[in-house]
Amino acid sequence: MRILVGITGGIAAYKSANIIRLLTEAGHDVKVLPTQNALKFIGSATLEALSHNSIDPDLYTQVADVKHIKLAQEADLVIVAPATAAFLARYAQGLADDLLTNVLMATEAKVVIAPAMHTAMWDHPATVQNIQTLTNRGVFVLNPESGRLTGSDTGIGRMVEPEDIVRRALIFAKDVQQLAGKQIVIAAGGTREAIDEVRFIGNHSSGKQGIALAQAALDRGAEVTFIAANIDLEIPAVQKLIRVASVSDLEQALHLAFESADAIIMPAAVSDYRLANPIIGKLHRAENPDLDLHLTANPDLLSELSAKRASSVRPVLVGFAAEVANESESESLEIRARKKLENKGVDAVVANWVSRGVVFGQDDTDVLIVSSGSTISATGSKYDVANSILNSIHTLLES
Ligand code: CTP
Repeated sequence: MRILVGITGGIAAYKSANIIRLLTEAGHDVKVLPTQNALKFIGSATLEALSHNSIDPDLYTQVADVKHIKLAQEADLVIVAPATAAFLARYAQGLADDLLTNVLMATEAKVVIAPAMHTAMWDHPATVQNIQTLTNRGVFVLNPESGRLTGSDTGIGRMVEPEDIVRRALIFAKDVQQLAGKQIVIAAGGTREAIDEVRFIGNHSSGKQGIALAQAALDRGAEVTFIAANIDLEIPAVQKLIRVASVSDLEQALHLAFESADAIIMPAAVSDYRLANPIIGKLHRAENPDLDLHLTANPDLLSELSAKRASSVRPVLVGFAAEVANESESESLEIRARKKLENKGVDAVVANWVSRGVVFGQDDTDVLIVSSGSTISATGSKYDVANSILNSIHTLLES
């Protein structure tokens, strides 16, 4: 792909070198267009060496070539990173006063921008309005993240990391914004059922697959509601985040989200049992040399959701099955997944083995995505697998 990387004058400009390197390494033809101010933060020698192309940010050189139109027409994708508050204002107003803004006004390529600035500037009504204007025009804005800023303070304003910019921009360019406007609900993590006021029945689920699903759904333009059951990891900037602890909390959150959901994906490890009567206060060993805890079954949440949608095909329901391989049972993973598909009345089941050396909390996974019409195997990072799951959901949503 022919990619034009615009760089504007902010301290995060030094990170743009990495964006260029990642794009050229992936085989793209990269041209770099820094503003004059960007060159105060990063040298043109660095940019030329990494892009293998010469740099000339001056609007008034090689005028006979009509440089701004040539650059605009030769790009399949434009990435501006970092995008400063001043650049956003000029771009939103159509103020073409340098080569980069001229190119942006003339190009028909897709445009991705990664703003970076102090929190106060990001929150300023002028910036908020400029971002809104650009978003409405179809520019893909990678909202800055929270973290350490240039000074001693922290807050929202840090540019998205180069690896993420490249990944998300390439997905956007390939037009896989196929979930734009879709409401995707993801319930992830592991529930906890109180034994007493300090102890609980829990499980090993880390929430990583759910987090990868949330990121992949956001990358495809979906509106994501993320229901997090006891997740300690950082959660992507979803549109709605609901934190829950027990199965009853999760049940309530799911039923609320159900109404507007196009799809509900349930990697959450849900406790099948809870204490019939959780103990008030704290259990003491001395008072209970022997202890019997009476457990009662929790409802099957997916089955409830499936019953609720009755004969409707919305929302699409996707369950997970973490299966333990048992010496005495020779049933294949696919057969087990198909049984869950039927029993729970869902549209797809993502199944994997959790024994056979595979443990919770890993970064890679190996699953079967089983739906009524197909069985797809997906292996790799949880983000890659999330994309395979979303491909299946997209097919279900289209059918
Ligand atoms: N699930 C649910 N409600 C429960 C338990 C599980 O909705 N009470 C969901 C999980 O979020 C997951 C799927 O059902 O998406 C499968 O969970 P699993 O524990 O494998 O299924 P169970 O029905 O509990 O079957 P098993 O007897 O194999 O544990």
